[in-house]
Amino acid sequence: MTNTVAIGIQWGDEGKGKIVDLLAPKMDVVARFQGGPNAGHTLVIGEQKTVLNHIPSGILHDNILSLIGNGTVVDPFRLVEELDMLLEAGIPVEQRLKISDRCQLILPYHRALDAAREAAKGKGKIGTTGRGIGPCYEDKTARRGIRLVDLNASNLDERLDEHLKYVNFMLVEFLGAKAVSKAEVMVALDLARERLLPLVADIPLILHQHIQAGSNILYEGAQGSMLDVDHGTYPFVTSSNTVAGAALAGLGVGPKDVDEVLGICKAYTTRVGAGPFPTELYNADGMCDAKNAGKHMAEKGQEFGATTGRPRRTGWFDAMVVQHAVRINGVTGLAITKLDVLDGLEEVKLCVGYSYQGERLLSIPADCAVLDACEPIYETLQGWSENTFGLTDITQLPAAASVLLQRIEEVCGCNITMLSTGPDREHICHLSSINT
Ligand code: IMP
Repeated sequence: MTNTVAIGIQWGDEGKGKIVDLLAPKMDVVARFQGGPNAGHTLVIGEQKTVLNHIPSGILHDNILSLIGNGTVVDPFRLVEELDMLLEAGIPVEQRLKISDRCQLILPYHRALDAAREAAKGKGKIGTTGRGIGPCYEDKTARRGIRLVDLNASNLDERLDEHLKYVNFMLVEFLGAKAVSKAEVMVALDLARERLLPLVADIPLILHQHIQAGSNILYEGAQGSMLDVDHGTYPFVTSSNTVAGAALAGLGVGPKDVDEVLGICKAYTTRVGAGPFPTELYNADGMCDAKNAGKHMAEKGQEFGATTGRPRRTGWFDAMVVQHAVRINGVTGLAITKLDVLDGLEEVKLCVGYSYQGERLLSIPADCAVLDACEPIYETLQGWSENTFGLTDITQLPAAASVLLQRIEEVCGCNITMLSTGPDREHICHLSSINT
């Protein structure tokens, strides 16, 4: 039995979808534990490309049970769209998917608040995905959220009236936005009642039974460790814990029920939205390095958000970020993705430390202003002109690419166990370490 947590360990978009898709066939259960429709995983079904936001990536396999845990926030409109899209593609999703009755619902006022708050912040905005994630988690923590199980509560109408008074006061009086009507909210609630309630289940019980039976379970994370509300670049983070530990609370399993933690990261770094990014080279606001390496990464890596289509900021691999992630998640193996994007660069750089006011920092500072002022300390390595696209055997890697990967292992203190060299399932090398 191997129960594995698979998480992103940069700022999201590390290529988790592909890695989870590769691991899924060995699994009996794939369970999502946090986030919501801010995540986007592109799947290709037949000729059609489609983006899943809530549903775990195991859903395409007929012998895998897909679970959405209590740590996840669910938008009924978007989740029902996903269900319908899969049903149309002939996937019996309703037989393969169970949702925790404890999941919080993202309702129209959450999206309205997300948009109004971002607009009010102007230049200081977080750059959220606009999916209502923050306001929904805020209601959860404030103990006024509506969960799937509450759809049958006798006092739901009263609670909603009370909550709408507060929400509309915030929207209209405080943020100068439009009020949300009860009718709009009722449409979402009715849809959830009709389409989602039939899928609810006691997820900890199901997982416990699988654990007892020796099943293989994949705990699937969303976003990345640097977007974690506690350990990331606060306040430029998402509103949930994205670290491996969140798999426990977000599904209802114990620490002994996890065997491995796979940390997924690109061979370079990207970020969408605002916030510090010490190794940034390139962004849509006009930042560009002299050798155009950042632009090369953005273009060759097709760095646009799967959920919002926003261009991503790009920069060199930051080993400070990955070291931090290895520590806070207990990462047991690294999956490095998009190595091929670096093909053709004359030189590649690895950030191995930060200098702040003349001092070398040993870890990621909690204060964003300090992180913003940090200068990356780089090791410059030789690039390679050979094509690594689609390589499946690490012995065929150009020597310079092997050197980069060896340094990543050494500096981050963790072995690379998977290396992805292209978008397809076949474009992968499995290894125990680049050094063996
Ligand atoms: P929110 O999760 O929509 O509140 O957005 C908060 C921050 O997290 C913003 O910088 C988003 O761009 C970022 N973010 C949220 N979800 C993802 C994701 O799946 N990939 C990358 N960035 C994300």
